[in-house]
Amino acid sequence: MTASGTFGYGLEFADFIDLKQIGGIIVKGTTLNHREGNPYPRMAETPSGMLNAVGLQNKGVDYFVENIYPKIKDIQTNIIVNVSGSDIDSYVKTAEIINELDCIPAIELNISCPNVKQGGMAFGVTTQGAYDVVNAVRKAYKKTLIVKLSPNVTSIADIACAVEDAGADSVSLINTLLGMAIDAERRKPVLSTITGGLSGAAVKPIALRMVWQVAKAVKIPVIGLGGIMNARDAVEFLLAGASAIQIGTANFIDPTITVKVVEGINDYLERHHIDSVTDIIGALEC
Ligand SMILES: Cc1cc2nc3c(=O)[nH]c(=O)nc-3n(C[C@H](O)[C@H](O)[C@H](O)COP(=O)(O)O)c2cc1C
Repeated sequence: MTASGTFGYGLEFADFIDLKQIGGIIVKGTTLNHREGNPYPRMAETPSGMLNAVGLQNKGVDYFVENIYPKIKDIQTNIIVNVSGSDIDSYVKTAEIINELDCIPAIELNISCPNVKQGGMAFGVTTQGAYDVVNAVRKAYKKTLIVKLSPNVTSIADIACAVEDAGADSVSLINTLLGMAIDAERRKPVLSTITGGLSGAAVKPIALRMVWQVAKAVKIPVIGLGGIMNARDAVEFLLAGASAIQIGTANFIDPTITVKVVEGINDYLERHHIDSVTDIIGALEC
């Protein structure tokens, strides 16, 4: 699948790849109301990665339903909406609206968003905060509920267990790691927001470790992402226990990377005489 915020609404990539060949498209973060996003500059390149502070720029869920959904609903793959919010109520209302869309089989709940009602601390950094938002959305959303975990925590396995208890069908991880870039000549932060989210190859070892820990802790399927740049990286996440993977930052470098990864996984299976990709999920030998 493609990671939220790195593949637009999918159609932007239709000139590069046959969208049917990928397992799913997780569309941009969608919120109840229109969001302008953060002021520029909001991207910075780092060694082996990038920092972003886009700030969930989108036109709101009603605009999505009226203007985007009709254009993407017939793409022959799973279209999943990444839902973000600033309080529990806004998550629930957005999920209820998406629940009515026949061609959207699942949502991915981004719990890395700050809770404005609780001093701006992200929902996903405490087990209680994570449980509460997932529990509320679970009651309102009837289809597949994927919860996307924040890596900016002490024990991601504890958060994953809380989210499982609250009724999540699956967890995806990781979202971006909190980072910072400084322009020494100007003595200024590079990003307007000072800090931002780190993604790309630089985060892969952390993501891999977290996927491995979470896959051992929960019974629900785990979707792995974070720094997957090629098929070998994808296979590593499957071996660590992910049942599926997402590709994010790599799309900016090579817009055809998703299909190359699909082909590369098949090539790995053939080389190792393995019949099905399911045979390598969690097959790491420690
Ligand atoms: C420009 C940009 C925008 C993003 N927007 C979102 C978003 O709206 N919702 C979300 O859950 N994650 C968002 N992410 C995080 C990615 O989906 C992904 O979790 C992260 O980048 C790690 O994967 P990667 O290293 O393959 O990029 C964004 C990442 C980037 C680089």
